[in-house]
Amino acid sequence: MITEKVKELVSEIEAASVTSKEQLEAFRLKYISKKGAVTELFDGLKNIPQEDRRAVGQELNTLKNLAQNRFQEFSATLENTETANPEMLIDLTLPVAPHLQGSLHPLTIVRRRIIEIFERMGFNVSYGPEIEKDWYNFSALNFADNHPAREMQDTFFISKSEGEVKDDVLLRTHTSNVQVRLMEKQKPPIRSIMPGRVFRNEAISARAHCVFHQVEGLYVDKNVSFKDLKDTLYHFAKEMFGKDSKIRLRPSYFPFTEPSAEIDVTCFICKGKGCNVCKYSGWVEIAGSGMVDPNVLENCGIDSEEYTGFAFGMGIERITMLRYGINDLRLFTENDVRFLRQFEGA
Ligand code: DAH
Repeated sequence: MITEKVKELVSEIEAASVTSKEQLEAFRLKYISKKGAVTELFDGLKNIPQEDRRAVGQELNTLKNLAQNRFQEFSATLENTETANPEMLIDLTLPVAPHLQGSLHPLTIVRRRIIEIFERMGFNVSYGPEIEKDWYNFSALNFADNHPAREMQDTFFISKSEGEVKDDVLLRTHTSNVQVRLMEKQKPPIRSIMPGRVFRNEAISARAHCVFHQVEGLYVDKNVSFKDLKDTLYHFAKEMFGKDSKIRLRPSYFPFTEPSAEIDVTCFICKGKGCNVCKYSGWVEIAGSGMVDPNVLENCGIDSEEYTGFAFGMGIERITMLRYGINDLRLFTENDVRFLRQFEGA
């Protein structure tokens, strides 16, 4: 009787199939649990005559092992199919995670653009030190000893000399120092632009910063004229701000150029009609410039009878602000990603 029941259960268990957690639990309850069929048969063992008990007991043990093995198999396959079946793990209807792309800093974009334009006109790129001697930042550039730019309010000094000889060490206040270094070690023709970081002792505000960037330009050769300066900057303005841009030169003064001029370009916000960016003049200032003062050429060991040159200097922040309509200098150094992300793909 009990042997027949065992046979029945063996074929039932062998034929059983389980495809869900619920079915697995039902299998467990039915065959393995304390109230399951196998336990029930074990309970009946005591009614079996003594001489058969051992043999029946063995059959029951085989049945029990079979039930347990099948249970292990079922739960293993169930687990495997759950992890192997991607649809059970990935919800294809969920929105795609945003793919974040890095972006160049706007000052980098504009610096690269400036370099590119001048490189096509035959200028190369030169660099000079940010920590500089007085000679390169001031004296060689024809700054008088009592020039206000040499004052502590304007310049960060690293060390200041006491005596007659000016051997102060300072943070360069402009990129014009690279002009001197270049002319000192290279004979004309020289055609170079010099991008870099400069420092001035200013309180930080929307309009001023103590660290900013400039690009210096220098062209020294035989017969370089003021017309070459005008043509070069006119071409630059058209490339940088659009082909309808015009330039305007206003007389100015710098110790290292004579004559000197400030360069204005047609306001590219209002196209010259007048707006609050250009203060209703139609023009915005982009650079200082002039013919290299003969004293500067001589200071660098270049014969000013034989050679002439022009130079210019422009602020990268200023051009970037005008180009992108940015009204606060501090945005360039805060590195707020909400600001920087606007230049993705620019
Ligand atoms: N160094 C000047 C400044 O920082 C800019 C400048 C003006 C550079 C005229 C030049 C130049 O080379 O010719 O304001």
